[in-house]
Amino acid sequence: QPENAENVEFEEIVPSNQHDFQTNGVPLVSLKGKKFGAANSLSNSLQSRSNYDYENGIKTVNFDNSNYKQNKSQILSEVKLDRKTILNQRQSLPIYDIKFELLDTLAKSCTNIIMGETGSGKTTQIPQFLHEENYDKEGAICITQPRRVAAITIAKRVAEEMNCKIGTLVGYSVRFEEMCSKNTKIKFVTDGMLLREVLKNPLLLKYKYILLDEAHERTVNTDVLFGILKSIQKKRKLKEKLPLHLIIMSATMDVSNFKTYFNAPALYVEGRQHQINIQHVKINKPITDYMSACLTFMVKVHRVAKEQEDILIFLTGQEEIDFAIKLIENFKKFEEFPSYPILKAFPLYAALPYQKQLQVFAKTPPGERKVIVSTNIAETSVTIPGIKYVIDSGRVKVRTYNSRSGFDELKVCKISQSQSMQRAGRAGRECPGVCYRIYTNQEFVDMPFNTDPEILRTNLCSTVLKLLAMKIKDVINFDFMDKPKVENLQLALDQLKSLKAIEEVNGAPVLTELGRKMSLFPLEPRYAKLLINGPTYSCTEEILTIVAMLSTDSVLVTPTNKREEAEEKRKKFFSVEGDHIILLNIYKGFMECTNKQKWCHRSFVNYRNLCYAENVRQQLKEICVRNNIPLMSCNGKTGLVLRCLISGLFRNVAEKVTDKNYIVLHTREEVKIHPSSSMFRLSEDYVLFTELVKTEKTYMHINSSIRAQWLMEFDSEYFLSKHIKQTKSESKSYIF
Ligand code: CDP
Ligand code: MG
Repeated sequence: QPENAENVEFEEIVPSNQHDFQTNGVPLVSLKGKKFGAANSLSNSLQSRSNYDYENGIKTVNFDNSNYKQNKSQILSEVKLDRKTILNQRQSLPIYDIKFELLDTLAKSCTNIIMGETGSGKTTQIPQFLHEENYDKEGAICITQPRRVAAITIAKRVAEEMNCKIGTLVGYSVRFEEMCSKNTKIKFVTDGMLLREVLKNPLLLKYKYILLDEAHERTVNTDVLFGILKSIQKKRKLKEKLPLHLIIMSATMDVSNFKTYFNAPALYVEGRQHQINIQHVKINKPITDYMSACLTFMVKVHRVAKEQEDILIFLTGQEEIDFAIKLIENFKKFEEFPSYPILKAFPLYAALPYQKQLQVFAKTPPGERKVIVSTNIAETSVTIPGIKYVIDSGRVKVRTYNSRSGFDELKVCKISQSQSMQRAGRAGRECPGVCYRIYTNQEFVDMPFNTDPEILRTNLCSTVLKLLAMKIKDVINFDFMDKPKVENLQLALDQLKSLKAIEEVNGAPVLTELGRKMSLFPLEPRYAKLLINGPTYSCTEEILTIVAMLSTDSVLVTPTNKREEAEEKRKKFFSVEGDHIILLNIYKGFMECTNKQKWCHRSFVNYRNLCYAENVRQQLKEICVRNNIPLMSCNGKTGLVLRCLISGLFRNVAEKVTDKNYIVLHTREEVKIHPSSSMFRLSEDYVLFTELVKTEKTYMHINSSIRAQWLMEFDSEYFLSKHIKQTKSESKSYIF
C-alpha cells in the first residue's frame, strides 16, 4: 500500500467553467434545455423570446412550443402503459423540450455543430427527432460512434425507445457484425464501417443525415471521415437532388477548431439531466500507484453505497484490468461484513469478445453491486445501467507511432481534461452521480484540454491505403482537420510501396491490383497481404487462423496460482517454430474437441476469445471467397506458413546479436524476446515478431523462428541492404 491511499481525503470541486467545451471566444447559439432532471420540465419554454448576451457572445433562444406540447400529448395518449417509463425518461432529458427549436435551427445550415453536456440526450434523441418529423423521408440517418460497444448498445436503446426490433427501423453496423435491413432509417455505425461504405457507395446516397458523434475523440477514422464527408457534401450539392446534412456532436470539444474547419454554426444545448459531484484527491504529492489507489477507493465506496449502486473504474489496459479484477475477487474472500452487497467484478476492454463486453450492460440483481474495471472504451457515449460512482485513475494507454523506429508503441499517459470530463459523465446518467478522481484539482487544471488527434500520432499505412482506394490521389494535400506531418504520410506511402500495394504512375501513387485487394479487408495492410499471399504458399487456411487469432488478445489464461499447471497442460500445443504455430495448434485443438468450453477450461485457454477468433476467421474467409482467393492448406508443412508470414511482415525481423539481445534489421533497434513468448528460452538466430511492446526495454511480442535463407529467398536485395549477417541457414534442423 504505497502512498497510503487509505488516508487520503477528497475535496469537492465545483467546476469553474459551466460547460465542458472550449469556445475560444466563438459565439454560440444556445438552446435552453432543462437544467436538471424532470422537475422543471416545461417551465423555461413557454415564452417566445430571444435575446443576445453581449458579454458572452451567446445568443439565447427561448421559445414557444405549444405546437410541440400538443404533439406530446398526442404521443402520450397513444402510448401503452408499459411504455410510459421510457417516455418519462425521454421527457426528462434536457434536449427533449427543445426538439422543434433544435430542428428549426438545424434546418438553417447543411452542417451543424452541436454541443451538449454528457447525458443531455444528444445521441439517443436527435436521430429520433429527425425521424419523428420525417426528415428521413428521402434518405436514412446514420450516426457514427468511435467504438463498437457504443454503436451496439445505443442502437439497442434507441430501438427500445422506439418500440421496434433491432435491425428493423433501427440498426447498427460494426466490423464483423451487421444488424440492418432495407428499411433501417436510423443506423448506428462505427466510423470505420462508414469509411468502408464510402468504398462501395462513393456518394453515400443512402443517407440524408450523417451525425458524427463524439467528434472530440478524433480517431484516425473520424478525421478521414471529416474530409471525405465534406467533399461528398460538395459533390452532392452540385450533382444530386439529395443534399447531405452533417451534424457534428460532442460534449467536450474545442468548438473554434471545428467551426473553422466545417464553416458551420455551433449550437449549445444547455443543461444536463443529473448532477455529478466531482471529488479530487487532496494530497501534496501526485499518486503514482493509481491502481491500488483506485481499488482502495472502490472499497471505501463499497462500504457506504447502497446495493445496486454500481461502480465504474477507469484503468489503462487488459493486463492491469485483469489483475485488478483478480484483486477484487480476492478481496471478496476476505469480506468481513457479509451484509454488504455482493461484489460482482467485470472487466471491459476492446480485446474482450463483444458478447462479454455486453455483459456489463446487464442490470445488477438486488443484493449485488457491479464493479466494472474498464479502459477508455467506456469513456464516451455509453450508458452503463446502475453506474452511480466513477473512479478515474487519470491514466490511459495511448498508441503512438514512433516514426524513427517505424512502429507503434503503447504507452501509459495522463488523460486530457476532455477525457476526464467524459469519464465523470458516465456517472449521473440515470441518477445523480459521484466521480472520484485519483488526481488533484491542480493536476486536472494542468492537463491539456484535448489530446493530440490520433492522426498525428499513428502509423498512416491503413489510412493512406483507404484514401487511395477512395480515389483520393493527392494524399499529401488531403483536407485533414489537423494535417499529419508530410514525412509521416511519405513514410506510409513508402511502406505501401514496399508491400507492393501501390506504384507510381506519372509521379502519383496508384493502387496496384494487390493494393486494391488489400483495401477490401478490414485489416492492417500487411495482414491483408498475408491472406492474399496465402495461396502462393499453399496456406490460406492457416493464415486465416493466425490472423483471426491475432485479432483477439490473450488466448492463454494463466492464473497466478496455477502457472505451472497451466504451462504443463499447454505443452501439447508447443512448437519449436514459435508462437504463430502454437496459435495454429491451439485453434486446431479447439475445432477438433467435442466440448469446447470444457476443453478450453482444461487447456487453460480463453474460450470466449477463441469463439471470437472463430467468428473473425469466418468473416475473413468470406471476404477471401468473394474475391477469388483460393482456400488452400499446407497440411502441416509449417515452414510454408512461416515463409508466408515473412512476405507481409518482412520489416518485423530481428537478428541475434548476443545470447538474449537482438536487433531489428529494418531499424537497427535493440530488442529482446518478451518473457511471455514461447521463444523466450530458445536462442534462435532470426526472429519474426508480430509487434514491439515498449516498457523500460523494447520487447518482441508473438514471435516465430525463421531461417535466414527464407529471408534471402523472399527479398535478398532488401535484406542485404539491411546488412543481414547470415545469408543462409546454419545447421538447425527444421520440420520443413
Ligand atoms: O449523447 P448524450 O451523452 O447527450 O446522451 P444519450 O446517450 O442520448 O443518453 C441520454 C440519457 O438516456 C442517459 O443519460 C440515460 O439516462 C438514458 N439512456 C439509458 O438509460 N440507457 C441507454 N442505453 C442510453 C441512454
Ligand atoms: Mg452521446
